[in-house]
Amino acid sequence: MQSGLFITFEGIDGAGKSTHIGAVADAFRRHGRTVRLTREPGGTPLAEKLRELVLNDPMDPLTEALLMFAARRDHLQQVIEPALAAGEVVLCDRFTDATFAYQGHGRGFDLQVLSLLEAWVQAMPDDTVRQPDMTLWFDLPAAVAATRLASARVPDRFEAQPQVFFERVSAGYAARAAAAHHRFVRIDAHQPLERVADEVRAALAARTWLPGAGA
Ligand code: TMP
Repeated sequence: MQSGLFITFEGIDGAGKSTHIGAVADAFRRHGRTVRLTREPGGTPLAEKLRELVLNDPMDPLTEALLMFAARRDHLQQVIEPALAAGEVVLCDRFTDATFAYQGHGRGFDLQVLSLLEAWVQAMPDDTVRQPDMTLWFDLPAAVAATRLASARVPDRFEAQPQVFFERVSAGYAARAAAAHHRFVRIDAHQPLERVADEVRAALAARTWLPGAGA
């Protein structure tokens, strides 16, 4: 059996990451892998209920951070860990880097407390902390994302934030990427869709998880 792969997709709202997840899923399936497409907050019935609350109901930053991690714990136990144990490719639209970027850098919540919660919630039986094998970070200037979001549906509590919030969130992703450069791949999301897709394909081919362009 092939070993499981855990790949996460990150970026500020409007960066366009969700567009590429389906294509990555198709590429892995063509390559004979079983793919689990999922998202955070969400991915289980309980976590989807928490998503509704956290995206729409007013709450303080600690409550917000705890709900993100509560949803994550359920998602890890019910979906992510069993899928990885079965050798599947788990493609997750956002994970803990989003908590550091949004709750930590965006809202200004204590990063050390977030690290503690990360270590508890993602603890593995061998005392390591579950982390993605690769994180594709779709990096787009906050000003460009703002113009894309302007035409979007009714905004949720995060999408409704001002541009300066997303500038902090971007800085948060950059800090996480610098601290975990072995798993982070920065994708330049400020280019035509097909070029962004090429960068995504190249990142996966570089790890030999998928065939490269001429294969
Ligand atoms: P989505 O629209 O990409 O599905 O993400 C939902 C929103 O939740 C998005 O604005 C980012 C936010 N979010 C956090 O603030 N913290 C987190 O830990 C996660 C996973 C998402």
